[in-house]
Amino acid sequence: MWFQIDVGLAESVREAADACAIPQSEFSPDVRQADPNFGDFQANGILPYAKSHGLNPRQIAEQIVSNLRTGEKFLGKIDISIAGPGFINFKLSNAFLIEWLNAYKSEKNCRLALAKNFRGKRIVVDYSSPNTAKQMHVGHLRSMNIGNSICKILKFCGADVIGDNHIGDWGTMFGILIMAIKKEGADASSLTLEEIESLYQLGNAMIIGDESAIATARNELVKLQSGDWENLQIWQRINEVSRAAFEEIYEEMGIYFDYALGESSYRDEVGRIYEELVAKGIAVESEGALCVFHGECERFGEQPFIVRKSDGASNYATTDLATVLHRTEQLRADEIIYITDGRQRDHFQQLFLTVQKWYAAFERKCPEMRHVWFGTILGDDGKAIKTRAGTPVRLKELIGEAKARALAIVNEKSTNLSDGEKQHVARVLAIDSIKYSDLLPSRTNDYAFSWDKMLSFDGNTAAYMLYAIARIKSVLKKCSIDAAAALANDLETAEERSLVRKLTYFPIVLAQAAKELRPHYICTYLFELAVEYSSFYNANRILAEEANVAARRLTIAVRTLQTMEIGMHLLGLETLEKM
Ligand code: ARG
Repeated sequence: MWFQIDVGLAESVREAADACAIPQSEFSPDVRQADPNFGDFQANGILPYAKSHGLNPRQIAEQIVSNLRTGEKFLGKIDISIAGPGFINFKLSNAFLIEWLNAYKSEKNCRLALAKNFRGKRIVVDYSSPNTAKQMHVGHLRSMNIGNSICKILKFCGADVIGDNHIGDWGTMFGILIMAIKKEGADASSLTLEEIESLYQLGNAMIIGDESAIATARNELVKLQSGDWENLQIWQRINEVSRAAFEEIYEEMGIYFDYALGESSYRDEVGRIYEELVAKGIAVESEGALCVFHGECERFGEQPFIVRKSDGASNYATTDLATVLHRTEQLRADEIIYITDGRQRDHFQQLFLTVQKWYAAFERKCPEMRHVWFGTILGDDGKAIKTRAGTPVRLKELIGEAKARALAIVNEKSTNLSDGEKQHVARVLAIDSIKYSDLLPSRTNDYAFSWDKMLSFDGNTAAYMLYAIARIKSVLKKCSIDAAAALANDLETAEERSLVRKLTYFPIVLAQAAKELRPHYICTYLFELAVEYSSFYNANRILAEEANVAARRLTIAVRTLQTMEIGMHLLGLETLEKM
């Protein structure tokens, strides 16, 4: 039995087409979810094929369908018909649906069925990656949440995933910061992150219009990069303090990395980058800097990818190139996925072009590289969200406020819980809501931040999903029926069928989320599933008089719960036993 019914059907259609002498290379079955009025799945690929070959699509559809009918054993449990000019409709029989439910009882079954999709593929996901010397703010949310979810999705689909937090600990800001610390006579060994942050602001103010301050800052950076002891001490302290503060946030958010190799980990590799790029003529000197021009892209003809600045310092591009080397040579990555906001699209396009040319020149296997970018979180004014004072909203404060608001809601709604339980529920509700509201909008869109929407129990929210899950759990706790014999009997009601049908779509949604690296498909699906479950629950008594009916409904409920929990896990969310 196929877990991904669309993939199984496509395979069968392809075989049937093959038997009609339709060349595989020219025909794609294009199997999708169908409008429930017509069926459960639909193959749409015949029309474009027939059109491009000047053939009658209806005739081709008839040939394919007659071949399909003699096909695999479970195709007998699917009603196949031709619609319109040449679509093939598939309607799954209740017997088929039950067989499917039985075949994928556990999370493990589902996981194993999907595992072939990415089997053996090693993927490095570069996410979160904040810069040190600054507190994390709301602008850091999306990379963290999207990256965390993408890691989980790819792992679930069988990939060998390495999550790497590429912390920005080697940038230009250190020149400015070290200058400010020295000018202010601050004692680096006792600075807090807040103090470091204000010294950085001070440094930034110092260099405005002051050539000599600019030169000093630049010189401090060059000194740091060439191993000056004093500057290295200051730098180290700043990074320690920053990383400790980041850890607190990750702990609160439940985000864990396999590696947190900062940019600085690659500082000794930059020499090799310059040498190799120059040796193959990929990088050239231009106005004192070492640059890569990608003239084939109009935009980059004028705007080079600078890999060494004119003062000799390495930069973001250099360490990114060295990181690719480390990831392919040491981590053996087949693919690297970078998660940052949309403003870095040019950087990554130039990075990828450079790596392609560089790896080709040395006959190395080039990894697949993808930039998964996202839009901005907006405030009431439609601009990037800020505090009233015009500063970025700190994550520490945002999490604190979410927890306080969640606790107020829980105190009001969940009067039956103990104080300890209320604290737990409020924490999960707060963190899940932050994550869910961040993952729900398509990542390439901007979205408006709203406390009320985020913590609401109505609509597609974390609270709604948590509540739906807790409710199924509480029903299940009351049942002592043995669900083992459950599925011997057929589905009866329209709601049962509709819910099981929805369950069969989960793998499609997951595959799509994994392909496009867009977790929001899962959010949309989970909400629809919860609504579908609600109709089922309202119209069909789970604890029906007849034992076999009760057992069947119970099994459907268990399976719905399992799917919801997998979905929530893939989004990086915790679930609750009760609320
Ligand atoms: N530290 C960078 C920033 O805050 C993001 C790093 C993304 N990853 C990378 N390999 N460039 O903008």
